[in-house]
Amino acid sequence: MAEGHDAVEVIVTKRSKGALSDEQIDWVVDAYTRGVVADEQMSALAMAILLNGMDRREISRWTAAMIASGERMDFASLSRPTADKHSTGGVGDKITLPLAPLVAACGVAVPQLSGRGLGHTGGTLDKLESIPGWRADLSYDEMMSQLESVGAVICAAGSSLAPADKKLYALRDVTGTVEAIALIASSIMSKKIAEGTGALVLDVKVGSGAFMKDLDDARELAQTMADLGSEAGVTTVALLTDMSTPLGLTAGNALEVRESVEVLAGGGPEDVVELTLALAREMLTAAGHDDVDPADKLTDGSAMGVWRRMIAAQGGDVDADLPVAQETQVVVAPSSGVLTRLDALAVGMAAWRLGAGRARKEDPVQAGAGVVLHAKPGDSVRAGEPLMTLHSDDQERFPRAEQSLEDAFDIKAKPSSTDQPRDLILARIT
Ligand code: URA
Repeated sequence: MAEGHDAVEVIVTKRSKGALSDEQIDWVVDAYTRGVVADEQMSALAMAILLNGMDRREISRWTAAMIASGERMDFASLSRPTADKHSTGGVGDKITLPLAPLVAACGVAVPQLSGRGLGHTGGTLDKLESIPGWRADLSYDEMMSQLESVGAVICAAGSSLAPADKKLYALRDVTGTVEAIALIASSIMSKKIAEGTGALVLDVKVGSGAFMKDLDDARELAQTMADLGSEAGVTTVALLTDMSTPLGLTAGNALEVRESVEVLAGGGPEDVVELTLALAREMLTAAGHDDVDPADKLTDGSAMGVWRRMIAAQGGDVDADLPVAQETQVVVAPSSGVLTRLDALAVGMAAWRLGAGRARKEDPVQAGAGVVLHAKPGDSVRAGEPLMTLHSDDQERFPRAEQSLEDAFDIKAKPSSTDQPRDLILARIT
């Protein structure tokens, strides 16, 4: 296809609810990566895709074009099978931290290429960067040698992996075009397929704190990603999991590292342990290695051993004190009863406003900022007792954080049967 004027033709095809041809997709993804298609043209196309969708053929081709925009990695030379996990992002979602060393302790290598947080969902790299000395940027050789020696690596995806997605994701983030199933599925799967993992387990979040607010949309996203993975020869399974309330009792970088270490020490909040074990079992089965019970590796110290080696291999001081915020403020329960709702998005927004997240890619994050919950849905609370503690280095951030928590919870003196906490794992998709 000739360069230049054709971007308009591609936009108009999708604006008119047409299907993009393979040639149009290959051209527009490549031309955008090279800077021939301008940001404003890709924004218009992304919005047309958000409004009018893409069919399965278009999504597969779009994913393949994004993979072809960069390099592919290959773990075939490793002595053990590989499995990776990807979460669509949620509040308090620190599962990667205990999961990667746990699965490695069971004999499957985990190459976890992660990102930084944007908006109210935290990023795995931001959390780990709260450990003094830890570094996210590894060369390909460092990553391969750590995978062989330690079995787990969590690091930043290099710029050569699906560069089309890097550019497009940043654009979608500022043009209101993130929440398109076709674009989310192709974005996630292009990176995972290019990364070269043998097996992939997807944690597709559903609820207020997730991109997908309802179960049907989440199911469609999960099925689309599972099909893309299988087509590319990656054994892919998805769990749909609840994100109407935060995971665990913490949202914020160092706070979440501390909670993850509790899980690795055989303790930690029930929901974090349940999801970590469920995802570990799926990863082990998908990698053909289901003869080990991961629960044993949390209690016998072997997952903790891998965590320590993994952090140390990337320069982290695993015994150093984690950063603590300079200021705290307690939010108390206004009445007595049962906490029947605690909204994930509101808590995520509060943590973000306290300094745990960033508004722009280049913003710094506060390592110690965030929210600690003292009760979860289903727990009894008493008027005047602490419900949450807010942490920040800046006192002036508290009022805005409190504002986002104003309608964040319900306390009922007499809860009804419909007020029961939701199941954590909602469905499994292959
Ligand atoms: N995570 C991604 O990597 N891409 C998306 O589009 C959404 C979440």
